[in-house]
Amino acid sequence: MQDTQEIAGKFRELCELCKSPADVIKTKKNLLVVSHVDADGLTAAAIVCTALERRGLDFQPKFFRQLDEAALEEVADHGADLVIFTDLGSAMIQQICDHRLLAVVADHHRPVVCEARPIAHINPHLVGADGATQLSGSGTAFLLARALASTPGGNDDLAALAVVGAVGDLQDMAHGQMVGINRHILEIGSNAGALSFSRDIKFFGRQTRPVYKMLEYSSDPYLPGLSGNEDACIAFLKEIGIRLGGEKWRRWIDLSQEEKAGFVTAVLRKGLRSGISNVKLERLIGEVYILLGEQEGTELRDASEYSTLLNATARYGHAGVGLSVCMGDRDKAFSEAQRLLGQHRQNLVNGLKLVREKGITTLKSIQYFDAGNAILDTIVGIVAGMSFQMGDRSRPILAFALTAKGELKVSARGTQDLVRSGLDLADALSRCAGAVGGVGGGHNVAAGATIPPQAKEEFLVLMDATVGRQLIRE
Ligand code: C5P
Ligand code: ZN
Repeated sequence: MQDTQEIAGKFRELCELCKSPADVIKTKKNLLVVSHVDADGLTAAAIVCTALERRGLDFQPKFFRQLDEAALEEVADHGADLVIFTDLGSAMIQQICDHRLLAVVADHHRPVVCEARPIAHINPHLVGADGATQLSGSGTAFLLARALASTPGGNDDLAALAVVGAVGDLQDMAHGQMVGINRHILEIGSNAGALSFSRDIKFFGRQTRPVYKMLEYSSDPYLPGLSGNEDACIAFLKEIGIRLGGEKWRRWIDLSQEEKAGFVTAVLRKGLRSGISNVKLERLIGEVYILLGEQEGTELRDASEYSTLLNATARYGHAGVGLSVCMGDRDKAFSEAQRLLGQHRQNLVNGLKLVREKGITTLKSIQYFDAGNAILDTIVGIVAGMSFQMGDRSRPILAFALTAKGELKVSARGTQDLVRSGLDLADALSRCAGAVGGVGGGHNVAAGATIPPQAKEEFLVLMDATVGRQLIRE
Protein backbone atom coordinates (compact mmCIF):
# COMPACT_ATOMS: atom_id res chain seq x y z
CA MET A 1 0.00 0.00 0.00
CA GLN A 2 1.26 3.48 -0.80
CA ASP A 3 2.41 6.04 1.65
CA THR A 4 -0.48 8.13 3.02
CA GLN A 5 1.37 11.41 2.42
CA GLU A 6 1.86 10.48 -1.22
CA ILE A 7 -1.83 9.60 -1.63
CA ALA A 8 -2.89 12.84 0.05
CA GLY A 9 -0.70 14.69 -2.47
CA LYS A 10 -2.33 12.92 -5.43
CA PHE A 11 -5.78 13.61 -3.98
CA ARG A 12 -4.96 17.33 -3.75
CA GLU A 13 -3.52 17.33 -7.27
CA LEU A 14 -6.74 15.83 -8.67
CA CYS A 15 -8.89 18.30 -6.70
CA GLU A 16 -6.77 21.07 -8.19
CA LEU A 17 -7.35 19.66 -11.70
CA CYS A 18 -11.12 19.92 -11.10
CA LYS A 19 -11.19 23.63 -10.26
CA SER A 20 -10.99 25.33 -13.62
CA PRO A 21 -13.34 22.93 -15.46
CA ALA A 22 -15.86 23.39 -12.62
CA ASP A 23 -15.65 27.17 -13.15
CA VAL A 24 -16.32 26.75 -16.87
CA ILE A 25 -19.21 24.30 -16.30
CA LYS A 26 -20.92 26.82 -14.01
CA THR A 27 -21.16 29.29 -16.89
CA LYS A 28 -22.85 26.89 -19.35
CA LYS A 29 -26.55 26.54 -20.01
CA ASN A 30 -26.93 23.40 -22.06
CA LEU A 31 -24.86 20.53 -20.68
CA LEU A 32 -24.61 16.93 -21.80
CA VAL A 33 -23.43 14.23 -19.38
CA VAL A 34 -22.11 11.16 -21.20
CA SER A 35 -21.40 8.01 -19.23
CA HIS A 36 -20.88 4.28 -19.26
CA VAL A 37 -23.53 1.57 -18.78
CA ASP A 38 -22.39 -0.03 -15.56
CA ALA A 39 -22.74 0.67 -11.85
CA ASP A 40 -19.66 2.91 -11.81
CA GLY A 41 -20.80 4.82 -14.90
CA LEU A 42 -24.32 5.28 -13.54
CA THR A 43 -23.18 6.55 -10.16
CA ALA A 44 -20.62 8.80 -11.89
CA ALA A 45 -23.38 10.34 -14.03
CA ALA A 46 -25.73 10.62 -11.05
CA ILE A 47 -23.09 12.43 -9.00
CA VAL A 48 -22.42 14.98 -11.74
CA CYS A 49 -26.10 15.39 -12.65
CA THR A 50 -27.01 15.95 -8.98
CA ALA A 51 -24.25 18.54 -8.65
CA LEU A 52 -25.56 20.32 -11.77
CA GLU A 53 -29.15 20.11 -10.54
CA ARG A 54 -28.16 21.62 -7.18
CA ARG A 55 -26.61 24.53 -9.07
CA GLY A 56 -29.74 24.97 -11.16
CA LEU A 57 -27.92 24.06 -14.38
CA ASP A 58 -29.68 22.33 -17.28
CA PHE A 59 -28.36 18.96 -18.31
CA GLN A 60 -29.17 15.82 -20.22
CA PRO A 61 -27.68 12.39 -19.52
CA LYS A 62 -26.65 9.95 -22.25
CA PHE A 63 -25.24 6.44 -21.81
CA PHE A 64 -23.05 4.30 -24.05
CA ARG A 65 -21.71 0.77 -23.85
CA GLN A 66 -18.46 2.13 -25.16
CA LEU A 67 -17.29 5.43 -26.53
CA ASP A 68 -16.46 4.68 -30.15
CA GLU A 69 -16.52 6.92 -33.20
CA ALA A 70 -20.28 6.35 -33.76
CA ALA A 71 -21.04 7.30 -30.17
CA LEU A 72 -18.91 10.43 -30.47
CA GLU A 73 -20.77 11.46 -33.64
CA GLU A 74 -24.03 11.16 -31.72
CA VAL A 75 -22.61 13.25 -28.88
CA ALA A 76 -21.34 15.88 -31.32
CA ASP A 77 -24.73 16.00 -33.10
CA HIS A 78 -26.44 16.77 -29.82
CA GLY A 79 -25.06 20.30 -29.97
CA ALA A 80 -24.48 20.83 -26.25
CA ASP A 81 -22.51 23.86 -24.97
CA LEU A 82 -20.27 21.52 -23.06
CA VAL A 83 -20.03 17.75 -22.69
CA ILE A 84 -19.01 16.10 -19.41
CA PHE A 85 -17.74 12.56 -20.00
CA THR A 86 -17.70 10.34 -16.93
CA ASP A 87 -16.26 6.82 -16.55
CA LEU A 88 -15.24 6.93 -20.21
CA GLY A 89 -13.41 9.29 -22.56
CA SER A 90 -9.76 8.92 -21.52
CA ALA A 91 -9.09 6.47 -24.35
CA MET A 92 -10.69 8.85 -26.86
CA ILE A 93 -9.13 12.19 -25.92
CA GLN A 94 -7.69 12.70 -29.40
CA GLN A 95 -11.02 11.99 -31.13
CA ILE A 96 -12.92 14.23 -28.67
CA CYS A 97 -10.59 17.05 -29.63
CA ASP A 98 -10.86 16.20 -33.33
CA HIS A 99 -14.62 16.69 -33.02
CA ARG A 100 -13.91 20.14 -31.57
CA LEU A 101 -16.13 19.35 -28.62
CA LEU A 102 -15.88 21.56 -25.58
CA ALA A 103 -15.45 18.79 -23.05
CA VAL A 104 -14.51 17.76 -19.55
CA VAL A 105 -13.37 14.16 -19.18
CA ALA A 106 -13.59 12.62 -15.70
CA ASP A 107 -12.52 9.01 -16.14
CA HIS A 108 -10.31 6.37 -14.55
CA HIS A 109 -9.58 4.10 -17.51
CA ARG A 110 -6.04 4.00 -18.80
CA PRO A 111 -5.58 7.19 -20.87
CA VAL A 112 -4.04 7.09 -24.31
CA VAL A 113 -0.92 9.11 -24.84
CA CYS A 114 -1.85 12.12 -26.93
CA GLU A 115 -0.91 15.69 -27.52
CA ALA A 116 -4.42 17.03 -27.75
CA ARG A 117 -5.97 18.72 -24.73
CA PRO A 118 -9.70 19.00 -24.14
CA ILE A 119 -10.52 21.73 -21.67
CA ALA A 120 -9.91 19.30 -18.86
CA HIS A 121 -8.89 15.74 -18.33
CA ILE A 122 -9.27 14.40 -14.81
CA ASN A 123 -7.90 10.88 -14.37
CA PRO A 124 -6.02 9.19 -11.50
CA HIS A 125 -3.41 7.82 -13.93
CA LEU A 126 -2.38 11.41 -14.76
CA VAL A 127 -1.18 11.92 -11.17
CA GLY A 128 0.37 8.46 -10.86
CA ALA A 129 -2.56 6.79 -9.08
CA ASP A 130 -3.93 3.45 -10.23
CA GLY A 131 -7.39 3.66 -11.80
CA ALA A 132 -8.17 0.01 -11.06
CA THR A 133 -7.87 0.21 -7.27
CA GLN A 134 -7.33 3.77 -6.08
CA LEU A 135 -10.08 5.76 -7.79
CA SER A 136 -13.20 4.80 -9.74
CA GLY A 137 -15.04 6.72 -12.45
CA SER A 138 -17.65 7.74 -9.88
CA GLY A 139 -14.85 8.80 -7.52
CA THR A 140 -13.35 11.00 -10.23
CA ALA A 141 -16.82 12.45 -10.91
CA PHE A 142 -17.21 13.05 -7.17
CA LEU A 143 -14.05 15.19 -7.08
CA LEU A 144 -15.51 17.26 -9.91
CA ALA A 145 -18.86 17.50 -8.07
CA ARG A 146 -17.06 18.76 -4.96
CA ALA A 147 -15.51 21.52 -7.03
CA LEU A 148 -18.99 22.36 -8.34
CA ALA A 149 -20.59 22.73 -4.89
CA SER A 150 -21.93 26.19 -4.10
CA THR A 151 -20.87 25.84 -0.47
CA PRO A 152 -17.76 24.00 0.72
CA GLY A 153 -18.68 20.39 1.46
CA GLY A 154 -22.13 20.92 -0.10
CA ASN A 155 -21.82 17.81 -2.25
CA ASP A 156 -19.93 15.63 0.22
CA ASP A 157 -22.99 13.41 0.74
CA LEU A 158 -22.50 12.20 -2.87
CA ALA A 159 -19.46 10.27 -1.63
CA ALA A 160 -21.91 7.46 -0.85
CA LEU A 161 -22.60 7.03 -4.58
CA ALA A 162 -18.87 7.20 -5.31
CA VAL A 163 -18.34 4.26 -2.95
CA VAL A 164 -21.15 2.31 -4.66
CA GLY A 165 -19.40 2.89 -8.00
CA ALA A 166 -16.00 1.83 -6.66
CA VAL A 167 -17.52 -1.34 -5.21
CA GLY A 168 -19.27 -1.95 -8.55
CA ASP A 169 -15.84 -1.85 -10.22
CA LEU A 170 -14.52 -4.24 -7.49
CA GLN A 171 -11.96 -1.67 -6.34
CA ASP A 172 -12.13 -2.92 -2.75
CA MET A 173 -11.11 -6.46 -3.71
CA ALA A 174 -7.36 -5.98 -4.03
CA HIS A 175 -6.84 -5.22 -0.34
CA GLY A 176 -10.20 -6.19 1.18
CA GLN A 177 -10.89 -2.49 1.74
CA MET A 178 -10.86 0.88 0.00
CA VAL A 179 -7.37 2.20 -0.64
CA GLY A 180 -5.74 5.26 -2.16
CA ILE A 181 -7.96 8.19 -3.08
CA ASN A 182 -11.03 5.98 -2.60
CA ARG A 183 -10.16 5.91 1.11
CA HIS A 184 -10.22 9.72 1.22
CA ILE A 185 -13.64 9.67 -0.40
CA LEU A 186 -14.84 7.08 2.10
CA GLU A 187 -13.75 9.31 4.95
CA ILE A 188 -15.39 12.38 3.40
CA GLY A 189 -18.66 10.45 3.09
CA SER A 190 -18.38 9.14 6.59
CA ASN A 191 -17.72 12.65 8.00
CA ALA A 192 -20.74 13.91 6.06
CA GLY A 193 -22.88 11.23 7.75
CA ALA A 194 -23.72 9.55 4.44
CA LEU A 195 -21.77 6.36 5.01
CA SER A 196 -20.43 3.97 7.55
CA PHE A 197 -17.92 1.18 7.06
CA SER A 198 -16.92 -1.81 9.13
CA ARG A 199 -15.41 -5.27 8.86
CA ASP A 200 -18.01 -7.91 8.24
CA ILE A 201 -18.75 -11.09 6.32
CA LYS A 202 -18.36 -10.41 2.59
CA PHE A 203 -21.20 -12.65 1.39
CA PHE A 204 -23.63 -11.01 -0.99
CA GLY A 205 -27.11 -10.13 0.27
CA ARG A 206 -26.53 -9.12 3.90
CA GLN A 207 -29.46 -6.69 3.71
CA THR A 208 -32.00 -8.56 1.65
CA ARG A 209 -31.38 -12.31 1.60
CA PRO A 210 -32.36 -14.92 4.19
CA VAL A 211 -29.14 -16.07 5.88
CA TYR A 212 -29.39 -19.60 4.49
CA LYS A 213 -29.72 -18.20 0.94
CA MET A 214 -26.80 -15.86 1.49
CA LEU A 215 -24.73 -18.91 2.45
CA GLU A 216 -26.10 -21.06 -0.37
CA TYR A 217 -25.05 -18.48 -2.98
CA SER A 218 -21.55 -18.00 -1.56
CA SER A 219 -19.03 -18.50 -4.35
CA ASP A 220 -15.86 -16.74 -3.26
CA PRO A 221 -14.53 -18.80 -1.65
CA TYR A 222 -16.61 -21.75 -2.79
CA LEU A 223 -17.52 -23.75 0.34
CA PRO A 224 -17.76 -27.45 -0.46
CA GLY A 225 -20.85 -28.98 1.10
CA LEU A 226 -22.55 -25.59 1.55
CA SER A 227 -22.30 -23.45 -1.62
CA GLY A 228 -25.15 -24.33 -3.94
CA ASN A 229 -26.81 -26.69 -1.46
CA GLU A 230 -29.91 -25.23 0.20
CA ASP A 231 -30.68 -28.22 2.46
CA ALA A 232 -27.09 -28.36 3.73
CA CYS A 233 -27.13 -24.62 4.51
CA ILE A 234 -30.37 -24.90 6.48
CA ALA A 235 -29.01 -27.91 8.41
CA PHE A 236 -25.73 -26.07 9.08
CA LEU A 237 -27.52 -23.03 10.55
CA LYS A 238 -29.71 -25.22 12.75
CA GLU A 239 -26.65 -27.09 13.96
CA ILE A 240 -24.92 -23.90 15.10
CA GLY A 241 -28.09 -22.65 16.79
CA ILE A 242 -29.15 -19.90 14.37
CA ARG A 243 -32.91 -19.60 14.10
CA LEU A 244 -34.02 -19.34 10.48
CA GLY A 245 -37.04 -17.20 11.26
CA GLY A 246 -40.73 -17.55 11.79
CA GLU A 247 -43.09 -15.62 9.56
CA LYS A 248 -40.16 -13.82 7.99
CA TRP A 249 -36.80 -15.34 7.14
CA ARG A 250 -34.02 -13.82 9.17
CA ARG A 251 -31.41 -11.92 7.20
CA TRP A 252 -27.79 -11.21 8.20
CA ILE A 253 -28.82 -7.80 9.55
CA ASP A 254 -31.37 -9.50 11.84
CA LEU A 255 -28.73 -11.62 13.61
CA SER A 256 -27.26 -10.63 16.98
CA GLN A 257 -23.51 -9.95 17.29
CA GLU A 258 -23.10 -13.32 19.07
CA GLU A 259 -24.92 -15.15 16.29
CA LYS A 260 -22.79 -13.41 13.64
CA ALA A 261 -19.58 -14.31 15.47
CA GLY A 262 -20.74 -17.91 15.87
CA PHE A 263 -21.60 -18.10 12.17
CA VAL A 264 -18.21 -16.77 11.06
CA THR A 265 -16.33 -19.15 13.37
CA ALA A 266 -18.36 -22.14 12.18
CA VAL A 267 -17.92 -21.26 8.48
CA LEU A 268 -14.17 -20.80 8.92
CA ARG A 269 -13.89 -24.12 10.76
CA LYS A 270 -15.85 -25.89 8.03
CA GLY A 271 -13.76 -24.22 5.33
CA LEU A 272 -10.49 -25.27 6.96
CA ARG A 273 -11.76 -28.82 7.37
CA SER A 274 -12.62 -28.88 3.64
CA GLY A 275 -9.02 -27.97 2.87
CA ILE A 276 -9.59 -24.36 1.78
CA SER A 277 -6.44 -22.31 2.20
CA ASN A 278 -6.17 -19.55 4.79
CA VAL A 279 -5.61 -17.04 2.00
CA LYS A 280 -8.95 -17.94 0.45
CA LEU A 281 -10.74 -17.98 3.78
CA GLU A 282 -9.41 -14.51 4.57
CA ARG A 283 -11.57 -13.24 1.71
CA LEU A 284 -14.64 -14.14 3.79
CA ILE A 285 -14.13 -11.06 5.91
CA GLY A 286 -13.53 -7.55 4.65
CA GLU A 287 -14.70 -3.99 4.68
CA VAL A 288 -18.39 -3.41 3.92
CA TYR A 289 -20.15 -0.12 3.26
CA ILE A 290 -23.52 1.04 4.58
CA LEU A 291 -25.44 3.97 3.08
CA LEU A 292 -26.88 5.61 6.15
CA GLY A 293 -29.51 7.60 4.29
CA GLU A 294 -31.15 4.46 2.88
CA GLN A 295 -33.74 2.23 4.46
CA GLU A 296 -32.47 -0.87 6.23
CA GLY A 297 -33.28 -4.16 4.54
CA THR A 298 -33.24 -2.70 1.02
CA GLU A 299 -30.61 -3.20 -1.68
CA LEU A 300 -29.73 0.48 -1.42
CA ARG A 301 -28.48 0.24 2.15
CA ASP A 302 -25.45 -1.85 1.15
CA ALA A 303 -22.93 -0.64 -1.46
CA SER A 304 -22.45 -4.09 -2.95
CA GLU A 305 -26.17 -4.85 -3.33
CA TYR A 306 -26.76 -1.31 -4.63
CA SER A 307 -24.14 -1.73 -7.35
CA THR A 308 -25.66 -5.04 -8.47
CA LEU A 309 -29.09 -3.40 -8.64
CA LEU A 310 -27.61 -0.71 -10.89
CA ASN A 311 -25.90 -3.24 -13.17
CA ALA A 312 -29.27 -4.94 -13.50
CA THR A 313 -30.64 -1.75 -15.08
CA ALA A 314 -27.84 -0.26 -17.16
CA ARG A 315 -26.43 -3.46 -18.60
CA TYR A 316 -29.86 -4.27 -20.05
CA GLY A 317 -30.44 -0.93 -21.72
CA HIS A 318 -32.34 0.67 -18.81
CA ALA A 319 -29.72 3.13 -17.61
CA GLY A 320 -32.43 5.77 -17.10
CA VAL A 321 -34.05 3.60 -14.42
CA GLY A 322 -30.76 3.22 -12.53
CA LEU A 323 -29.99 6.91 -12.87
CA SER A 324 -33.40 7.85 -11.41
CA VAL A 325 -32.75 5.55 -8.45
CA CYS A 326 -29.34 7.12 -7.86
CA MET A 327 -30.93 10.57 -8.03
CA GLY A 328 -33.48 9.72 -5.35
CA ASP A 329 -36.48 7.96 -6.93
CA ARG A 330 -37.67 5.40 -4.36
CA ASP A 331 -40.98 4.82 -6.05
CA LYS A 332 -41.54 3.72 -9.66
CA ALA A 333 -37.90 3.56 -10.78
CA PHE A 334 -36.85 1.68 -7.65
CA SER A 335 -39.59 -0.96 -8.11
CA GLU A 336 -38.63 -1.33 -11.75
CA ALA A 337 -34.96 -1.72 -10.79
CA GLN A 338 -35.90 -4.45 -8.29
CA ARG A 339 -37.84 -6.27 -11.00
CA LEU A 340 -34.85 -6.04 -13.36
CA LEU A 341 -32.63 -7.31 -10.56
CA GLY A 342 -34.66 -10.51 -10.35
CA GLN A 343 -34.08 -11.12 -14.05
CA HIS A 344 -30.40 -10.22 -13.79
CA ARG A 345 -29.86 -12.78 -11.01
CA GLN A 346 -31.53 -15.44 -13.11
CA ASN A 347 -29.33 -14.53 -16.08
CA LEU A 348 -26.19 -14.84 -13.95
CA VAL A 349 -27.27 -18.25 -12.63
CA ASN A 350 -28.02 -19.42 -16.20
CA GLY A 351 -24.71 -17.97 -17.41
CA LEU A 352 -22.71 -19.84 -14.77
CA LYS A 353 -24.58 -23.04 -15.58
CA LEU A 354 -23.69 -22.64 -19.24
CA VAL A 355 -20.00 -22.16 -18.41
CA ARG A 356 -20.04 -25.25 -16.22
CA GLU A 357 -21.66 -27.29 -19.02
CA LYS A 358 -19.53 -25.98 -21.86
CA GLY A 359 -16.31 -25.98 -19.86
CA ILE A 360 -13.36 -23.64 -19.87
CA THR A 361 -10.49 -24.17 -22.34
CA THR A 362 -7.01 -23.74 -20.94
CA LEU A 363 -4.12 -22.44 -23.05
CA LYS A 364 -0.58 -21.85 -21.83
CA SER A 365 -1.12 -18.47 -20.18
CA ILE A 366 -4.85 -17.78 -20.48
CA GLN A 367 -8.15 -19.65 -20.17
CA TYR A 368 -11.38 -18.89 -22.00
CA PHE A 369 -14.97 -19.82 -22.79
CA ASP A 370 -17.18 -18.82 -25.69
CA ALA A 371 -20.80 -18.10 -24.76
CA GLY A 372 -21.88 -17.50 -28.38
CA ASN A 373 -25.22 -15.74 -28.09
CA ALA A 374 -26.27 -17.61 -24.93
CA ILE A 375 -24.99 -14.88 -22.57
CA LEU A 376 -25.61 -11.20 -23.19
CA ASP A 377 -22.37 -9.44 -24.14
CA THR A 378 -23.00 -6.75 -21.51
CA ILE A 379 -22.96 -9.25 -18.62
CA VAL A 380 -20.50 -11.84 -19.93
CA GLY A 381 -17.70 -10.09 -18.02
CA ILE A 382 -19.58 -10.49 -14.73
CA VAL A 383 -20.10 -14.20 -15.48
CA ALA A 384 -16.39 -14.52 -16.38
CA GLY A 385 -15.39 -13.01 -13.04
CA MET A 386 -17.75 -15.29 -11.14
CA SER A 387 -16.84 -18.54 -12.90
CA PHE A 388 -13.18 -17.70 -12.54
CA GLN A 389 -13.44 -17.65 -8.75
CA MET A 390 -14.42 -21.30 -8.72
CA GLY A 391 -11.64 -22.63 -10.91
CA ASP A 392 -8.09 -21.95 -11.98
CA ARG A 393 -6.78 -18.67 -10.56
CA SER A 394 -3.33 -19.01 -12.12
CA ARG A 395 -4.39 -17.63 -15.52
CA PRO A 396 -6.63 -14.73 -16.51
CA ILE A 397 -9.99 -15.71 -17.99
CA LEU A 398 -11.39 -14.47 -21.30
CA ALA A 399 -15.04 -14.72 -22.24
CA PHE A 400 -16.50 -14.31 -25.72
CA ALA A 401 -20.06 -13.34 -26.60
CA LEU A 402 -21.70 -12.21 -29.81
CA THR A 403 -23.19 -8.73 -29.84
CA ALA A 404 -26.50 -7.78 -31.44
CA LYS A 405 -24.47 -6.17 -34.24
CA GLY A 406 -22.71 -9.49 -34.96
CA GLU A 407 -19.38 -8.41 -33.49
CA LEU A 408 -17.45 -10.49 -30.99
CA LYS A 409 -17.27 -9.04 -27.48
CA VAL A 410 -14.36 -10.11 -25.31
CA SER A 411 -14.32 -9.66 -21.54
CA ALA A 412 -11.17 -10.43 -19.60
CA ARG A 413 -10.70 -10.76 -15.86
CA GLY A 414 -7.57 -11.36 -13.77
CA THR A 415 -6.70 -11.60 -10.09
CA GLN A 416 -4.69 -9.20 -7.96
CA ASP A 417 -2.01 -11.89 -7.59
CA LEU A 418 -1.65 -12.05 -11.37
CA VAL A 419 -1.49 -8.24 -11.58
CA ARG A 420 1.31 -8.34 -9.01
CA SER A 421 3.06 -10.83 -11.32
CA GLY A 422 2.89 -8.42 -14.25
CA LEU A 423 -0.57 -9.00 -15.78
CA ASP A 424 -2.00 -5.97 -17.56
CA LEU A 425 -5.21 -6.88 -19.37
CA ALA A 426 -5.89 -3.33 -20.58
CA ASP A 427 -2.58 -3.27 -22.39
CA ALA A 428 -2.92 -6.84 -23.73
CA LEU A 429 -6.48 -6.33 -24.96
CA SER A 430 -5.86 -2.99 -26.58
CA ARG A 431 -2.77 -4.35 -28.41
CA CYS A 432 -4.22 -7.72 -29.46
CA ALA A 433 -7.66 -6.35 -30.39
CA GLY A 434 -5.97 -3.56 -32.32
CA ALA A 435 -3.83 -6.10 -34.20
CA VAL A 436 -6.91 -7.97 -35.47
CA GLY A 437 -8.93 -4.89 -36.36
CA GLY A 438 -10.81 -4.43 -33.08
CA VAL A 439 -10.69 -2.05 -30.12
CA GLY A 440 -10.09 -2.78 -26.47
CA GLY A 441 -8.99 -1.31 -23.17
CA GLY A 442 -9.93 -0.98 -19.52
CA HIS A 443 -7.91 -1.82 -16.43
CA ASN A 444 -5.03 -4.14 -15.58
CA VAL A 445 -7.34 -6.56 -13.73
CA ALA A 446 -10.49 -6.22 -15.88
CA ALA A 447 -10.67 -5.21 -19.50
CA GLY A 448 -12.79 -5.64 -22.59
CA ALA A 449 -12.65 -5.49 -26.36
CA THR A 450 -14.72 -5.87 -29.50
CA ILE A 451 -13.20 -7.79 -32.40
CA PRO A 452 -14.35 -9.17 -35.76
CA PRO A 453 -15.76 -12.72 -35.11
CA GLN A 454 -13.49 -14.35 -37.70
CA ALA A 455 -10.42 -13.05 -35.83
CA LYS A 456 -11.10 -15.07 -32.67
CA GLU A 457 -8.41 -17.76 -33.13
CA GLU A 458 -5.73 -15.27 -34.14
CA PHE A 459 -6.70 -13.06 -31.21
CA LEU A 460 -6.42 -16.00 -28.78
CA VAL A 461 -2.92 -16.86 -30.02
CA LEU A 462 -1.85 -13.22 -29.66
CA MET A 463 -3.39 -12.92 -26.18
CA ASP A 464 -1.79 -16.15 -24.98
CA ALA A 465 1.63 -14.93 -26.11
CA THR A 466 1.16 -11.38 -24.79
CA VAL A 467 -0.03 -12.50 -21.35
CA GLY A 468 2.76 -15.11 -21.28
CA ARG A 469 5.31 -12.34 -21.84
CA GLN A 470 3.72 -10.08 -19.19
CA LEU A 471 3.86 -12.80 -16.57
CA ILE A 472 7.47 -13.74 -17.30
CA ARG A 473 8.79 -10.20 -17.45
CA GLU A 474 8.26 -9.52 -13.75
O1 C5P B 1 -17.36 -5.11 -20.65
P1 C5P B 1 -16.50 -5.53 -19.53
O2 C5P B 1 -17.23 -5.60 -18.23
O3 C5P B 1 -15.71 -6.77 -19.79
O4 C5P B 1 -15.41 -4.36 -19.40
C1 C5P B 1 -14.34 -4.41 -18.49
C2 C5P B 1 -13.63 -3.07 -18.47
O5 C5P B 1 -13.01 -2.83 -19.73
C3 C5P B 1 -14.58 -1.89 -18.23
O6 C5P B 1 -13.94 -0.99 -17.36
C4 C5P B 1 -14.75 -1.31 -19.61
O7 C5P B 1 -14.98 0.06 -19.57
C5 C5P B 1 -13.43 -1.60 -20.28
N1 C5P B 1 -13.56 -1.74 -21.75
C6 C5P B 1 -12.83 -0.90 -22.59
N2 C5P B 1 -12.95 -1.02 -23.96
C7 C5P B 1 -13.75 -1.97 -24.53
C8 C5P B 1 -14.49 -2.83 -23.67
C9 C5P B 1 -14.37 -2.68 -22.29
O8 C5P B 1 -12.12 -0.02 -22.10
N3 C5P B 1 -13.83 -2.07 -25.84
ZN1 ZN C 1 -15.46 2.46 -14.01
